[in-house]
Amino acid sequence: MVRVDRRPGVVTRTVATDRDRERQTQPEHRDRSEPTHSRRSGFPPGPIASVQRSKAAARDWYDAISDQYDVFADPFEASTRSRGLDLLAATPGERVLDVGCGTGQALLELSRAVGPEGAAVGLDIAPGMCRTTRQRLTNGGHEPLVVQGDAASLPFPDDRFDAVFASFVLELLDTPEIGSALREWYRVLDPNGRLCVVSLSRRRAGPLTWLYEAIHDRWPTYVDCRPIYLRETLLETGFAVRDHRTTDICGLPVEVALCEPGSSRERFG
Ligand SMILES: C[S@@+](CC[C@H](N)C(=O)[O-])C[C@H]1O[C@@H](n2cnc3c(N)ncnc32)[C@H](O)[C@@H]1O
Repeated sequence: MVRVDRRPGVVTRTVATDRDRERQTQPEHRDRSEPTHSRRSGFPPGPIASVQRSKAAARDWYDAISDQYDVFADPFEASTRSRGLDLLAATPGERVLDVGCGTGQALLELSRAVGPEGAAVGLDIAPGMCRTTRQRLTNGGHEPLVVQGDAASLPFPDDRFDAVFASFVLELLDTPEIGSALREWYRVLDPNGRLCVVSLSRRRAGPLTWLYEAIHDRWPTYVDCRPIYLRETLLETGFAVRDHRTTDICGLPVEVALCEPGSSRERFG
């Protein structure tokens, strides 16, 4: 059973440990031919959009729509989220964290997968989302392990989880925070653990992406996810990408990436 510190905002500091030293001896994972996510020309083209909304505003928005979220989001997001869950392939007895768990659709699947010997924990910044998720898990006969908190400041100790899952969350964070959040996810992952991220993507950006971004710029509250360069960002943070797929939602590219903690040199260097 995972022990969950339910105090939001409690952070365990990351220090250089044996785990880091051990990672330094592992082979280089990063494909240095990849461009960085912030590159402004060449391939992939263009920078990602910045986020104007404050974290408190994001929390209040998702809090307000938590009861209706599934109705308008599920038709678009459900199948891609399932692809991510398939790739993560949680197994009985594992400790899994779902960051930005929303209404708990993925967390319910994860709870079933890990079974009573494991623990599937959800974290979300919006109290309404946490409430809805707890209800879903309780109705499904699972222990409602749900914590209100911030994806970039996790209230869990180092190496706590065998797997971390996040769908349509990373692209909500402002650019500097994406790195901070990924470092947090890295920190709470067991050295042999894995991370699966599903995100709107700026890879293969075309007219539809540009149109979507124009709409995002005009109505950043209602169309809040913005496409990012997921694979490159994961590599820059020190993850080793093990499986990577590009799919789409109504023509908008989506990346699904499975990765593992890589070399600490990349992460801290
Ligand atoms: C687009 S929804 C996706 C929900 C869920 N992962 C899914 O696939 O259905 C984004 C979720 O991330 C949460 N969120 C936004 N910013 C967050 C943050 N900084 N920390 C934790 N959760 C956050 C929102 O409250 C919302 O529930």
